[in-house]
Amino acid sequence: MNILIKNIAEEEIKTDALILPLFENYSIDIYSGIDSIIGGLIQRVINSKEFTGKQNQTALLHVRNINCDRVLLVGLGKQSDITTDRIRQAGGKAFSFLRDIGVKDIAVSSGIFDYLPKSFKASQKPVFYFMEGGLLSLYKFEKYKKSENSKEIKTATILGTDKDIPLKWLQTSVSAVNFAKDLVNTPSNDMTPTVLSNVAKSISGKKIKVKVLEKKDIEKEGMGAYLSVSKGSDEPPKLIIVEYKGGKGGPLALVGKSITFDSGGISLKPAEGMEKMKYDMSGGASVLAIIKAASELQLPVNIVGILPATENLPGGSASKPGDIVKTITGKTIEIINTDAEGRLALADGIEYAIKYYKPKAVIDIATLTGACSIALGNEAVAIMGNNNELMEKLKRAAEETYERVWQMPLYDEYKEYIKSDMADIKNSGGKNGSLVTAGYFLKEFAGDTPWIHLDIAGTAWNEKDKPYTPKGATAIGVRLLLNFLEEI
Ligand code: BES
Ligand code: MN
Ligand code: ZN
Repeated sequence: MNILIKNIAEEEIKTDALILPLFENYSIDIYSGIDSIIGGLIQRVINSKEFTGKQNQTALLHVRNINCDRVLLVGLGKQSDITTDRIRQAGGKAFSFLRDIGVKDIAVSSGIFDYLPKSFKASQKPVFYFMEGGLLSLYKFEKYKKSENSKEIKTATILGTDKDIPLKWLQTSVSAVNFAKDLVNTPSNDMTPTVLSNVAKSISGKKIKVKVLEKKDIEKEGMGAYLSVSKGSDEPPKLIIVEYKGGKGGPLALVGKSITFDSGGISLKPAEGMEKMKYDMSGGASVLAIIKAASELQLPVNIVGILPATENLPGGSASKPGDIVKTITGKTIEIINTDAEGRLALADGIEYAIKYYKPKAVIDIATLTGACSIALGNEAVAIMGNNNELMEKLKRAAEETYERVWQMPLYDEYKEYIKSDMADIKNSGGKNGSLVTAGYFLKEFAGDTPWIHLDIAGTAWNEKDKPYTPKGATAIGVRLLLNFLEEI
């Protein structure tokens, strides 16, 4: 989509639809100029109480005597309750509404955002949030439908001056989000480890180098825990390594869970809902998207993305409960449950990152546990780690992007839960505390390296449309970590 900023008045713009955001039960004085030209239609719809400005409410007016064909009022909710996310939601509601009725050219009035309450920090960019919500809401996944929906907004014009809107950032981060969503929504028959490795190669370029380790290389590295997950599948595992060089110093390692399908393996999952386990590579997809965007934005940082990609299937040569496997550094793991496969692949992924890259920090991002959604529903990412300073930075990025995180403890007592009689550690501590014991398990492989674990099992997939996040893959983590990278 083409995005423009023009310093012209609402009554001057020529467009298919002009969006006028409004607080709830708020004076329409700021729109009185345009309202008098269109014969007081705005005042009329407000007098009728058909539109009060309630959060995400819309009212469409067909207008004349003016250059635009339609005016869309959209509610921001009460002025005193305004948050960055309420602004995103209203943007999402307005844009998707107009796209669905077939509008091609839209304009957004931004004057209302001069009237935010003082609680709203000056550093925050309301027009950016409105546009961000708007653009994000337009995502559709229709690759597998016979007739693709051709409705598309081609141009959006922001009305106003020096609103300080980072347009490049906006468009790059939204396309990164869409890129990750496409990977995750693609079914596992078309998103095998091999396909994912080819996608990674496709983003390589001047500043991005991609290496793919084949099964025999992975064996040579001694990544026995990761390999054990792949044994039940005919699809070969691919260790995907993506290096972005944009700055100096040790890199930030991003390790993304990349199970392209998780059936549970021999510890088979129930059939109901299993089709969704194609999203078990959401972490890896987000890592690729983040690196792609970082390079497009020329962020002055170094990143290495590690994606230990594989399927987790039952088969004649699949791993079995009770099996003991070995990671790169020689730690032994007793496999209690083959469905706790993510941590096996990640343990080797984290050790690989530390061994070869000496990273400043490791962040893993993974759809790791069902318990994550039980604890936090679909509203927050569970964050755990061994470095408070880093976690505080991530929390700030979470607040800014509304990809919220909630910290869980890693008490030493949890060590006991995953103590194995047979090996150094076991891959499941049972039901009790399974969100945090999964985190604790990974901590054991991070050692002294500053490390953060993000469990995105509850937030990587939307069952229902939300105002700016359509059903399906959410690409959670992309905006969060891009914002974090911008901070550091
Ligand atoms: N990929 C799943 C976690 C998951 C479940 C993600 C539902 C998204 C939605 C993971 O591999 C898994 O199966 N975890 C098990 C671990 C258990 C066997 C210790 C779980 O959480 O049930
Ligand atoms: Mn599993
Ligand atoms: Zn899994």
